[in-house]
Amino acid sequence: MKLDDMSMDWGMKNRLSQLIQKDGRCLFLPIDHGYFQGPTSKLERPGETIKPLIAYCDGVFVTRGVLRSAIDPAHSKPIILRVSGGTSMVGEDLANEELTTSIEEIVRLNVAAVGISIFVGSKYEKQTLANLSELVNECEEYGIPVMAVTAVGKELEKRDARYLGLASRIAAELGARIVKTYWCENFEKVVNGCPVPIVIAGGPKTDDEKQVFDFVYDGISKGAIGVNLGRNIWQHEHPVAMIKALRAIIHANATPKEAQKVFNDNVGKK
Ligand code: 5RP
Repeated sequence: MKLDDMSMDWGMKNRLSQLIQKDGRCLFLPIDHGYFQGPTSKLERPGETIKPLIAYCDGVFVTRGVLRSAIDPAHSKPIILRVSGGTSMVGEDLANEELTTSIEEIVRLNVAAVGISIFVGSKYEKQTLANLSELVNECEEYGIPVMAVTAVGKELEKRDARYLGLASRIAAELGARIVKTYWCENFEKVVNGCPVPIVIAGGPKTDDEKQVFDFVYDGISKGAIGVNLGRNIWQHEHPVAMIKALRAIIHANATPKEAQKVFNDNVGKK
């Protein structure tokens, strides 16, 4: 994304540049899981979870409820506000989301961006794409970027280049300024077909940190600008070591081997 793009107003450029750093990269830390999962493991008290981590991220993805209760407005990182929801793990269909947050609330909270899920290929495809379009219409008026999340609900097997490329392109066509999507084999196909920047989602916690370093490195090498990665950081036994190692890949072009060294050097540190 060219932040000197003359078609972009000052407010939009300012918000995007709070999130995307001078090197063109970003590390977003999502703690929005409770909006459909309830008190997720290691996120029961989000304020405590992020205390040692917030210094190392470039933005926090969070709902308004947790924002108000767990994040200090005086010392905050840029906020990406989660503004879709209305479903739960125990409900009928995770895809049946609505917009949860008004534009007045989004402006009042002074956020750097908003995030919304779309469920392409689901029974609620049209509804969630209409949610995205409506949100873009409202947020563009105020220079607020929209990040679309290509969600798959419980159908994790959907995560291949054909599906994620399709969903990411549709999100961009409808006006998302950033797309958050899963890493997959042949990730370059997803990036090449999407005209706006892509950040890599994390997904459920993997067995070991090396897998995370490998997929993040591959995704960045193939053109993603960063990550939006939660459980593989804060559910890890050594979350600070994890976020520092990922920062090294994203902002210092570290290889997975170099990231592993950063991790090893930081185990046990705060
Ligand atoms: C859910 C989300 C979450 O922000 C995201 O999935 C969290 O990241 P991780 O999967 O890495 O824990 O958008 O749809």
